[in-house]
Amino acid sequence: SEAGAKPRGALIVVEGLDRSGKSTQCAKLRSFLESSGHPTELWRFPDRETSVGQMISAYLSNKSQLDDRTIHLLFSANRWEKRSLMEEKLKGGTTLIVDRYSYSGVAFSSAKGLGIEWCKAPEVGLLAPDSVLYLDISPERAAERGGYGDERYERVDFQKKVSEFYQTLRDSSWKIIDAGDSMEEVEKKIQQVVLDKVKECALGKSLSLLWS
Ligand code: TMP
Ligand code: MG
Repeated sequence: SEAGAKPRGALIVVEGLDRSGKSTQCAKLRSFLESSGHPTELWRFPDRETSVGQMISAYLSNKSQLDDRTIHLLFSANRWEKRSLMEEKLKGGTTLIVDRYSYSGVAFSSAKGLGIEWCKAPEVGLLAPDSVLYLDISPERAAERGGYGDERYERVDFQKKVSEFYQTLRDSSWKIIDAGDSMEEVEKKIQQVVLDKVKECALGKSLSLLWS
């Protein structure tokens, strides 16, 4: 980074099917980075705290019905409403671990039959992650985990389609982590990848935009 300028934080996105262990691993990663001296916040999308987020949450818990394109755009709006704060945090030196991002947006909506390009369009111009970690688990194994089936998309047949679209979206920069390994194994693998990335960003790796 430039002399006197603060090293920027890294934008780390964690993706995967429902019940792949993202939330647990994100929390562990956050404590790890903090204890290694890197200011870190844990974010998640959907962010159910905002008014848009409350509409999304009602939809996911089947308390409301929305047209497929409408809910897609709400998920996207929920990211746009946090974009400026996101940039501010990163430039101020805070690393953000983000539990789901635009890839969820595209994979889940495409799995319903909406076109991929249509789904990507509203994401263009959001901040691009410095690293995407994909917690890889089969839809069948995920379904055996506790709490499965509570929300709208938690059905094995649907999650199979979602995993196919994740495969279409991913590129060689994604880190694919076997989420069927023990929690400790997964935790260690993630730590290695992320620590390297945090250092790269602190040394001046520039922020870029989706979708490229
Ligand atoms: P959560 O369980 O991580 O809170 O996510 C809720 C559900 O919303 C999950 O099934 C994935 C889905 N989702 C989308 O369909 N589009 C999106 O943009 C995001 C962030 C999540
Ligand atoms: Mg869920």
